[in-house]
Amino acid sequence: MGAIDVSEIQTFVHDVVVIGAGGAGLRAAVAAAEEGLDVGVVCKSLLGKAHTVMAEGGAAAALGNADPRDNWKIHFRDTMRGGKFLNQWRMAELHAQQAPDRIRELEAWGAVFDRTADGRINQRNFGGHRYPRLAHVGDRTGLEMIRTLQDKAVHTAGVAVHMECTALRLLLDKGRVAGILAYWRDSGRFVLFKCKAVIMATGGFGRAWRVTSNSWEYTGDGQAMAYEAGAELMDVEFTQFHPTGMVWPPSVAGVLVTEGVRGEGGILTNNRGERFMFNYIPEKFAKETADTVEEGERWLDGDKTARRPPELLTRDVVARAIAAEVAAGRGSPHGGAFLDIASRRPAEVIKKKLPSMYHQFKELAEVDITKEAMEVGPTLHYAMGGIRVDHDTQMTRVPGLFAAGECGAGLHGANRLGGNSLSDLLVFGRLAGLGAASYIATVGDLEVSSDDVVAGIRKATAPLNRESGPNPYVVHDGLRDVMGRHVNIWRTREGLEKGLVEIARLQGVVGTVKAHGTSQFNPAWSEALDLPNLLLCAEMVARGALLREESRGAHSREDFQGERDEWGSRNIVIRKGADGAMETEVLERTAGPDGLAGIANASLEDLEGNRG
Ligand code: FUM
Repeated sequence: MGAIDVSEIQTFVHDVVVIGAGGAGLRAAVAAAEEGLDVGVVCKSLLGKAHTVMAEGGAAAALGNADPRDNWKIHFRDTMRGGKFLNQWRMAELHAQQAPDRIRELEAWGAVFDRTADGRINQRNFGGHRYPRLAHVGDRTGLEMIRTLQDKAVHTAGVAVHMECTALRLLLDKGRVAGILAYWRDSGRFVLFKCKAVIMATGGFGRAWRVTSNSWEYTGDGQAMAYEAGAELMDVEFTQFHPTGMVWPPSVAGVLVTEGVRGEGGILTNNRGERFMFNYIPEKFAKETADTVEEGERWLDGDKTARRPPELLTRDVVARAIAAEVAAGRGSPHGGAFLDIASRRPAEVIKKKLPSMYHQFKELAEVDITKEAMEVGPTLHYAMGGIRVDHDTQMTRVPGLFAAGECGAGLHGANRLGGNSLSDLLVFGRLAGLGAASYIATVGDLEVSSDDVVAGIRKATAPLNRESGPNPYVVHDGLRDVMGRHVNIWRTREGLEKGLVEIARLQGVVGTVKAHGTSQFNPAWSEALDLPNLLLCAEMVARGALLREESRGAHSREDFQGERDEWGSRNIVIRKGADGAMETEVLERTAGPDGLAGIANASLEDLEGNRG
């Protein structure tokens, strides 16, 4: 094999490279460029294709347009309660305070939100939010957000976009970020990006499961690169199963059915026609949840004294309830529940407020949702945990490495409220861009080590160059089986231990896979390169889940049912140890600052109308 001449590799030089062009990445790029930086955005797919579009129902922000009693404090309180108090206090505060400005800014940049009768941005109900809080565009909010941010980014001086380019590893100079090694997916050629800061905005790792709303890009690349470079990860055991994905036909199992359907009044029933969510109201939410059909209806009609219907409990609760109905033999024909909007709203309202759902079911399942109920079931949707960052700057413990959006950790704790992802990526994408700008101002010249580049290339070409080996797609399929069997909605010690053994076995196999053909247009090679990242994330989830001996938020242990007080003050942190093995640490949380803890525990009456 001839020597690799690093000087011949195509090279771009930017101040900062953003990896990922979903909402967080684009918002970070705009913020950094507006600070005068030269920004490169590297995206695995085409610009505009991102999991952001899967947050369909809206972006949560306490604008108070649909109910004037709403304010940032109640949004903060809902977020902490939804996250079972494992959220980072400061991040939940920043998010609730800044989300309204980020939404108004998006509107100024051209986002066409649905309007109230008097012309303001309209807001809808969503699970866990006390008031109608989701600024929305029908059921295409994420899509509109990406369209707007994409337009803004490409018209912002200093932003260059590198599409269909996959980042492989971070390059460091004496522990500081100095660049990345990547490859073009079409030509298979390697490319170097030299820079002083990298912002990870790569989204989640839902492709480790078979039934997921995530598309092919979501293989945990950012989490894995950050881990390998020395960053810490946190709260990774909390993986969100969105209660309503399509369950039929098999080709579309997992495709998201927006929570907006329930926000618009849709109800869940079992195969006996029972509205079963009334049987699953947790004690802690009883004061805020209607226990009769009539009261839920009054709430949906805007009666401010009523409590919200149980279909709008948080996602963890609703997903477990559907799974329990199925397990008890009361599921729908294809193993889910019925979601009915047809009997609740006129056809023209359904088509206006939920146009994508209407078309999705018509085209993919031959179901007319204005006439019949949908069949839905839990789908892996979101990673609450991710790369651990400083709350104000979004920098990790690796100098020059930042993270924002789904691949970051801290805002959501044990469970994310629907709609908080879109405002999360706007708020923290911007802060990451600003954080990178401040950091870069302090950094001198950096060098990229040729040895690191060569090592990265040799590792990447190994699946092409070996004579034979297992098929990477088969290994991926094996991982999906393991996660479905052992690291699913309900978990046990025995299952998680078995899962970890299986994941370790697959980690051994992945080092021997063979991608046939050349490096050009070779999806099997790309699969072989993504797989170690996915396996690493799977291992992190299983290790965290094994350690957390309780059920909290989206993490449910059959052998440790219910929350345990001692775990209510602990986050789990994961890092690569000095010996190269994965290390876990149980971190005792400090009590929240007086002001914030007071808000989180205050009564609603104390906070309503309190916009200060
Ligand atoms: O159901 C949805 O529209 C998803 C929203 C979200 O994940 O925030």
